[in-house]
Amino acid sequence: MSNSVIIAPSILAADFARIGDEVAAVDKAGADWIHLDVMDGHFVPNLTFGPPLIAALRPHSKKPFDAHLMVSNPDALLDAYAASGADIITVHAEACPHLDRTLAHIRDLGCKAGLSLNPHTPIDCVKHVLDRLDLILVMTVNPGFGGQSFISAMIDKIAALKTLIGSRPITIEVDGGITADNAGAVVAAGASALVAGSAVFRGDSYADNIAAIRAAAG
Ligand code: DX5
Ligand code: ZN
Repeated sequence: MSNSVIIAPSILAADFARIGDEVAAVDKAGADWIHLDVMDGHFVPNLTFGPPLIAALRPHSKKPFDAHLMVSNPDALLDAYAASGADIITVHAEACPHLDRTLAHIRDLGCKAGLSLNPHTPIDCVKHVLDRLDLILVMTVNPGFGGQSFISAMIDKIAALKTLIGSRPITIEVDGGITADNAGAVVAAGASALVAGSAVFRGDSYADNIAAIRAAAG
């Protein structure tokens, strides 16, 4: 996708009572993508939202909507996520027994196809679906909750993925515990899209928070 670093604020850390305004605020503050954490209370032990909320948010930003599906059966609602306005749809390798078919379906819907790996999941599982992928999302925490600490062992995983991808146009995105303190290290290892929830939705200035991560990313 892009050569410059993409900052994707996760609205999981936003004020849900003012969610449309929060999306508009991070858009204005310099977000490149809006990261949407969908949780089903089954694949992960937490619940968030689904296609109706994404559709309701769509008018609040023209930036790409980056939907991260932490759900057990993503196939059931892929059409609905595409129709709701998601531009990138990322599924979890651990949740997809027919991953090749699932990724092909996402592209057939006109969306970019992403694959997310939990911290313990080996990178080998991407090897035979590389041609189906636009993005690989490396979880740098165990998914389910915002505000967790970055797992530094993921730096080597990002670097190994970068080597595996080679010259293919696949973006490496990182998600979980990303701050200005580790943004430089993940980008140096090969990441070019950084999700950040609690490091963006805090304090007085979302713009300053995004700028600090972007500056640290180099
Ligand atoms: C975790 C989510 C993340 C989370 C990131 O399951 O996928 O997107 O919101 O939040 P922080 O940046 O607070 O770790
Ligand atoms: Zn996420």
